[in-house]
Amino acid sequence: MTFDDLVRRATALVEDGRRAVLGIAGAPAAGKTTLAEELVKAIDSDRVAHVPMDGFHLADVELERLGRRNAKGAPDTFDALGYAALLRRLHADEDDVIYAPGFERTIEQPIAGAIPVFRSARLIVSEGNYLMVGDGPWAGVQPLLSEVWYADLDQEERIRRLIDRHRRFGKDEADAVEWATGTDELNAQVILATRERADLIVPAALLRGLGAPPQ
Ligand SMILES: Nc1ncnc2c1ncn2[C@@H]1O[C@H](COP(=O)(O)OP(=O)(O)O)[C@@H](O)[C@H]1O
Ligand SMILES: [Mg+2]
Repeated sequence: MTFDDLVRRATALVEDGRRAVLGIAGAPAAGKTTLAEELVKAIDSDRVAHVPMDGFHLADVELERLGRRNAKGAPDTFDALGYAALLRRLHADEDDVIYAPGFERTIEQPIAGAIPVFRSARLIVSEGNYLMVGDGPWAGVQPLLSEVWYADLDQEERIRRLIDRHRRFGKDEADAVEWATGTDELNAQVILATRERADLIVPAALLRGLGAPPQ
């Protein structure tokens, strides 16, 4: 399997002209966003859109109300039903533009209206942690996805990248390690348990050399 095979498999999902949503799941820092961005770059930009699940993070103000501010990133700290509703609206394919929320990493907050999805976008690449979780409000998501691919990266390298990312976005070393091996790791275990539900496992090595500048 090569990256070009992935591009062909993704574009085949929209051969009939109908909108399709390709999901990419995987543990924190496994490379979901990088894979989605590389796919989008490789496909005619009018025909494809990148809609991350990250945009459905609950805002801090709501996490405070719920007493879940320190669990940011856990399954219950997202608006899973809102995400499913957006996927249904994308499938309905009735609007010239559909706005999706983005996630701003520097402030760790969702931003409404950040991502326009134009009518011409047939393939929607969506990526996030919990696409294949089979219980609770997440259970309605996988049936709305044409395929789900699992971004697979060995645990040691994944945690290294995760700590790096926390550091880049302002956490000190101790905090970065604590999040990566604490809260984030609990979430990673939930995601790892969904791995076998994937239609395709994508090894991280497949993206090597495609240029994934740290961000
Ligand atoms: N091939 C690579 N080599 C080294 N670091 C990478 C590579 N691909 C991605 N990264 C880094 O790993 C981190 C996690 O990647 P990302 O795609 O954001 O993962 P996810 O969306 O699953 O959390 C990012 O900070 C990114 O810069
Ligand atoms: Mg990501």
